[in-house]
Amino acid sequence: MKEKPIGVFDSGMGGITILSKIMEYLPNENYIYFGDSLHNPYGEKSEEEIMDYAISASQFLIDKGCKAIVVACNTASSVATDQLRKIFPHTLFIATIPALKVAMDEDRNQNVLVMATKATLSSKKFQELYQSYQKEHDHIYLLNCSNLAHLIEEEVQTVIDQKLEQLLLYYQSKNIDVVVLGCTHYPLIKQNIQALLQNAKLIDGSDGIRRQLKKKLIEYNLLNPKTDTGELTVYNSLGEKNVQKTWEILHAYQKQENR
Ligand code: DGL
Repeated sequence: MKEKPIGVFDSGMGGITILSKIMEYLPNENYIYFGDSLHNPYGEKSEEEIMDYAISASQFLIDKGCKAIVVACNTASSVATDQLRKIFPHTLFIATIPALKVAMDEDRNQNVLVMATKATLSSKKFQELYQSYQKEHDHIYLLNCSNLAHLIEEEVQTVIDQKLEQLLLYYQSKNIDVVVLGCTHYPLIKQNIQALLQNAKLIDGSDGIRRQLKKKLIEYNLLNPKTDTGELTVYNSLGEKNVQKTWEILHAYQKQENR
């Protein structure tokens, strides 16, 4: 019998930056990726709306028989994970949050810039994390990148560069050591970000998530014991054209990362 898949969802294309790293790490699992491009950007929506979208996406993946769900969207994770775990108590949820802890664990004296959506930065979950470090460190900058994820989703390259220049201008003189890419869409434009903050190290949460996923699959006895390569099925709330686009972006990202 075919192994039950792992569901991965995001507010669109961004979650493929997590999916690709998970697939590389756990290649013999089956995956279903659901991109909710219809409701992108989540980051500009109210908590109630984000919650509703996350519940629908999870229900969709549970109906497809997923044994675990990776909420590969910092915004949905920060706002909705506790609720999702309450509503679907029999499903294993793995969530993501901007990798501020990774940056702080590396070196507490670094100048850190966290780029994320408005909804992520104002969420209770992220604020708790931030406050736990901010008390002792006044060199963590939070940058609300309103609508940047949507521009990336729509692939409007020239506007992306203009928007990035505006957003990062102030920080170019701040000796930023680490940029936390706190939205799954941002690794898709990491070269553009790096070009503006050349001395900064860019980090995202994909490594933490894939390790956490494997640990939990083992703990709940859900790891696929078979060794053959798994399959990926893609769905998108905007239909077939976006499914095609997801595959293209996934392949381009895999190529970029393996260079
Ligand atoms: N990709 C999502 C995240 O990781 C949100 C982008 C959006 O829909 O605003 O936060």
